[in-house]
Amino acid sequence: MLEQIVATRYVTPLREGGSLPGIVEADDLGTYVVKFRGAGQGLKVLVAEVVVGELARRLDVSVPRLAVLDLSRDIARYEADEEVQDLLSASVGLNLAVDFLPGAFGYDGSRPPDGPTASRILWLDALTANVDRTWDNPNLLLWHCRVWCIDHGAALYFHHGWPSRTPDPARFAAQPFDASRHILREVAEDVAGAHALLAPRVTPELLAEVLDLVPDDWLETTADLADADAVRAAYVDHLLARVANPAAWLPGGECP
Ligand SMILES: Nc1ncnc2c1ncn2[C@@H]1O[C@H](COP(=O)(O)OP(=O)(O)O)[C@@H](O)[C@H]1O
Ligand SMILES: [Mg+2]
Repeated sequence: MLEQIVATRYVTPLREGGSLPGIVEADDLGTYVVKFRGAGQGLKVLVAEVVVGELARRLDVSVPRLAVLDLSRDIARYEADEEVQDLLSASVGLNLAVDFLPGAFGYDGSRPPDGPTASRILWLDALTANVDRTWDNPNLLLWHCRVWCIDHGAALYFHHGWPSRTPDPARFAAQPFDASRHILREVAEDVAGAHALLAPRVTPELLAEVLDLVPDDWLETTADLADADAVRAAYVDHLLARVANPAAWLPGGECP
């Protein structure tokens, strides 16, 4: 599992985010942006954050460090703001902590990443079906002269169908990806080249390593997926099926 830390203080809400993220201090003296399990979008968005974020990191895309944050009932009890108190009370237990990048700027296109970096990011978004990286919703930060990817909760949307539908990797593998509104579309010159470099690195072993970072507690079982390891295997199967079928989703069309 990811490194586990314990919340020591809720500092302030981050008003920009739709998922009610907040700044929290932890027992390692670190400061984190926390995605709360009680924020209403459910545990699956936390799973997507870890799976896509940690896959990105292993494919040389910059992502802030992730950790699992244990939130106690006491932190909620001493919170004065009623709305925040409700959120914290609903989030007792394990939450997602994203290392806070102090002084980071939101991406505005004035310092674009180089072509290979942009191509890697766009490729990863296409692979994981992440629709959340547009000018309306950049989810890119500029920090220490580098572009950092955040907010992968919208990716891997196939899992939202699981309670009622049998997992179907072939269906996900065949879903097209619309890159027309992607924020790095103009800068990502060679997405097919990124595919040629990165696809061979997305192996069953690498994906198993990434899924092992997700706490059991966040992996919701269904009639088809009896335990946490079955849920992990379903994510691995979906990503392996998709990476092997670039004709369906690779922006730019040409497949190596
Ligand atoms: N690690 C971070 N360091 C600094 N600021 C961050 C970090 N993560 C998020 N933010 C800020 O918080 C905002 C909301 O975070 P985000 O992860 O996009 O949440 P949401 O899912 O609510 O959109 C971002 O647009 C950014 O301004
Ligand atoms: Mg966001």
